[in-house]
Formats: sequence, structure tokens, C-alpha cells
Amino acid sequence: MSRKSNGTRENWGSQLGVILAVSGSAVGLGNFLRFPGQVANNGGGAFMIPYVVSLLIVAIPMATAEWALGRFGGRCGFHSPVGIYYSAGGRKALWGALGALTTVAPFIIGMYYVFIEAWCLIYALQYLGGVLAPLGLRFSLFQGVDAGLFFEDAAGYENFFGATVGIAKDGALFTQAASTTLLATLACVWINFRLTYRGVSRGIEWFCKMASPLILVCAIAVIIRVITLDNPSGIPGRSFLDGLGFMWNPSRNVLNESGEVVDRINVWTTLCDPGVWLAATSQIFFSISICLGAVCTYASYIQPRGDVALSSLASTATNELCEVAFGGLMSIPAAIMFLGPVAAGGFASSFALGFVVLPNVFGLMPLGQFWGFLFFFLLFLAAITSSISMLQPMVALFQETLSLTRERSALLSSGLNMLGTGVVCWFTFNLGALDVFDFWVANFLPLVAAILQTILICFVWGSTSLRSELALGARIKPPYFVVNILKFVSFPYMLLVVLFWGWRNMGSRVQEVVDSRVAQASLAFIGLSLVLTLALAIVLSKRRQKTPDENNETASPEP
Ligand code: PHE
Repeated sequence: MSRKSNGTRENWGSQLGVILAVSGSAVGLGNFLRFPGQVANNGGGAFMIPYVVSLLIVAIPMATAEWALGRFGGRCGFHSPVGIYYSAGGRKALWGALGALTTVAPFIIGMYYVFIEAWCLIYALQYLGGVLAPLGLRFSLFQGVDAGLFFEDAAGYENFFGATVGIAKDGALFTQAASTTLLATLACVWINFRLTYRGVSRGIEWFCKMASPLILVCAIAVIIRVITLDNPSGIPGRSFLDGLGFMWNPSRNVLNESGEVVDRINVWTTLCDPGVWLAATSQIFFSISICLGAVCTYASYIQPRGDVALSSLASTATNELCEVAFGGLMSIPAAIMFLGPVAAGGFASSFALGFVVLPNVFGLMPLGQFWGFLFFFLLFLAAITSSISMLQPMVALFQETLSLTRERSALLSSGLNMLGTGVVCWFTFNLGALDVFDFWVANFLPLVAAILQTILICFVWGSTSLRSELALGARIKPPYFVVNILKFVSFPYMLLVVLFWGWRNMGSRVQEVVDSRVAQASLAFIGLSLVLTLALAIVLSKRRQKTPDENNETASPEP
């Protein structure tokens, strides 16, 4: 392993290390918060149909190809998506520009992700201090904000969440009483900075190796608790299986408070909504971190002959285990058991489910203080292993374009990232900026980037290069048919989803932007970040024109 801080020769310490780092990037708030929220918001079990379809026909082949692309770029001396796409695209500036899109996307996601990370930290500490649970010693991190908050009733938790995130008005967090949230956000920014500053092996890999077993243990402990608390209220329709039914049944009955059927959700109605398809496909991209710069950047640091297909499958499988099995077993079944389908369904958004519904549930559980702490600590750790991977593509880009040392690149990236976090922390009225960032950058943009990335991989870099790259150092027989799946199945599928969604829903989204100043400011910020990254991409393509010894970069298959 090399530790050069200003060169491009950094590598992961071991094969297990890279798998844990990529799995760490994948397993995050997307698994434990976003996924259950998306399921509850988009028709319950019916959502799982486009989700599984996208996993099989887009995510698995795309992840494999992106790993190969990343390692190819790494062998050419590039670690940023800009450099990687540029080298795979025959050193054409146009492909570098696509790399700018997938560098800036995780960077912007990181701006609000770190804010949510801070909520998890606050919640974990507040559970530890006994504020968020009926039992135990009380010490509060807030001065004044929690005065008068009592958690015996559901509104207490909602108020607490509102105060923590400053939901009442823009700028609410910039007062002394609420400054804890800003301090926690700064602490998270600092942790992310320190880990990227230390480098891929000594920072990122080291932390992921430590955090992964802890995340696993916490997740399993919380799940065992949820599963063993079957129907504590005894009311019909509130068993653990009813919770699973809410998650998995494509068509299901809608019940009222006393468990009587009042309506029925039909699978076909859900499947005819293009928004559900967009949400499912984007959830997969977000969750596996593909087409969002992180995977190809991480893959570029593996040894020139490190395995690609096995690592890709291992990290995708780990992510799906954590998302569908763990994430899906925790929140929704627990909320249905304790609060009933009406309350659980009513709080369908990801944040409400995680930060309002679940604290209610923990409040009703024996030893709720302990389970609450464990859950939010798990979220916090999982969030950190993801947010460092959002920063790394930009760190690598600064190293490559401005020839900065890793340490300086980490400082510059973290500093710029904090500006965006500042925007998100200011426009907190109904989490306005966060919502706009999340929709355009985490929902819409990955699909557009995925379509362009497929064109690059299949039609520019080419099938032969992809096959050769997959064969290099392969420990399992690489699935060569991924190229054909990408070309003939994934590509038309993604085009169809984007066009179908654009035709039915783009108008209302654009109208939202026209009507809201916060949306306009947030989009302007996103645009500015993109322009700056594009400028860096142009610098990179000017500085790294093809040199004679770099002409022969295509891998030759193993004998
Ligand atoms: N996959 C992460 C999660 O599920 C989010 C992420 C997005 C990570 C983009 C890296 C890049 O929380």
C-alpha cells in the first residue's frame, strides 16, 4: 500500500478492505431511512415490483460495469470520475464533462446528508442522556428548546424533531437555543474531513473496517427486538406479519384505527404511476451508490489485478441484505405494531418515519432508551461510512486537476461542502432546500447520469474493453453477458422510465420551482456547483492530453 499524498498511487490495503469500504458507502441512511419511507410513500408492496426489476436488470449489471470502469481509470492514473470517464471515453473532453456530473452529484448529496447525519448523532446522544425516553437520567443537549417538551404524547416527538431540524422557519437553527444542531453538523463535517484527509487506506478503509461489524451487530439487535415484540397491543391488524404485509403485499386493504377494512390499494394503480418507477429506480441507484461517482472512484484504488466482479457482487449483496432484510424489517413493522397502520401510513415520509414514528415506538417499548440509542447510533455510523464516499470523488478531482496534496484537497472539498451544508441549514422551513437537493440530485440526476454512463460504457469504451477489464484478476467467472444486458435491456428501460416520468410529472416539478424562491435558490446553487466542476473537468482534459505511453491502456485478458 502506498501512502503518497500528492500522487495518484494510493491503494486499498486489502480485498476485504475495499469490499467493506464500498459496502460502507452503499449501506447508509438510504437503507434504514430512505428505503422504508419510499416503500410507505409509494404504495407499499407494489413499490417492490419496480424495485426488484431495477435491481435485476439495471443495478447489478451497472455496478459490475462501473467497478470495471473505475479500475480501468485507476490503471490509467485517474481516480476522479472526471478522469476515469475521460480515459475511458478516448480522452475526449465531453466524457470528462459527464464525469463532472457524477462528481458533483455525490458532493451535493453530501451537503445535506451530513445534516441528517447530525440529527442521528443528536438523537443517539439524547437517548443516551434520557431525554428521548420515558425512563432514565435526563440531560439535555439543548438549552431551552426542549423545555416544556414531554414525550408521553406523540406531539412531543414531533416538536422535538421540528426543533432539532429548525422546521418552523428559515434561519431557525441560527439562534442560540438551537445551535446544538449546527454544532453537531460541524462535528460531522469534521469527522468526514479527517477521514478523507487521512486517505483511502488509513482513513476510509480503517474506519469502515471498524464500523461495519458494529453496524451489523446494532442492526441485528434492533431487528431481534422488533421481531420478538409481536402485537404488543393485541388490536387486530397490528401483528408483526401485518407490518410485513404492509411492506410486501402488492395489493392490500386499508384499515382504520380499530382494524376494520375501509379501502383497498390496487397494485395496477400503483404500477401505472411513473413517479413510482422513477422513485424505485433512483432508490436503487442511491442505495448501491452507482452512477453517483462513489463506486468508480473507490474501484479506481484497487490493485491493478484486484478482482472486480466478485467485489461488485459482494457489496451489492451486502447492501440489499441491509436494505430489504434489515431496513425493511425494522421501521415499518415496528410502526404498524405499536401505532397501527393509520398512524404509520400517515407519517409516510422517510424523516417522519425515522425521527418521529420510531421514537414513539421506542417510547412504548420496554428499555426504549437503550433501543433508541442503538438505532440512532447505527444510523450515525452507517451515515459516516457513506458520506466519506461522497467527498472522495471531489477530493480526487482536486488532486488531479490542481495537483494538490490529498490533505489540501480534503480541506478544500470539505470547506466547499460546508458552504452547501450552510444553505441547507439556513433554508429549513419545511426542509425546503433539502427536499429540492434530494429530488433533483438524488432522484432525477442519477437516472440521467446512468443513461449517459451506459452510452459511454457500451458504445464508446466498448464491449471488448469491458470484457477484458472484467477478466483481469477475476476470481469468479465474470458475467460477460452484462454488456448485452446493459445495451439491450437496462438502456431502453432507463430511457422509458425517464421519458414516462418526464411526460407525466415534469410539468408539476417545474411549476414547483417556478413557485418557490427556496427551490430557485437551491437549484441556482446546484447549477453553480456543476459549472465549477465542469471548469475543473476542462482543466483536467487540457492538462492530461493523451501521451504516447498511455495509448495502450486496454487490459488484455488473463491467459
Ligand atoms: N448509498 C448511500 C446510502 O444508501 C448514499 C450514497 C449516495 C453514497 C451517493 C455515496 C454516493 O445511504
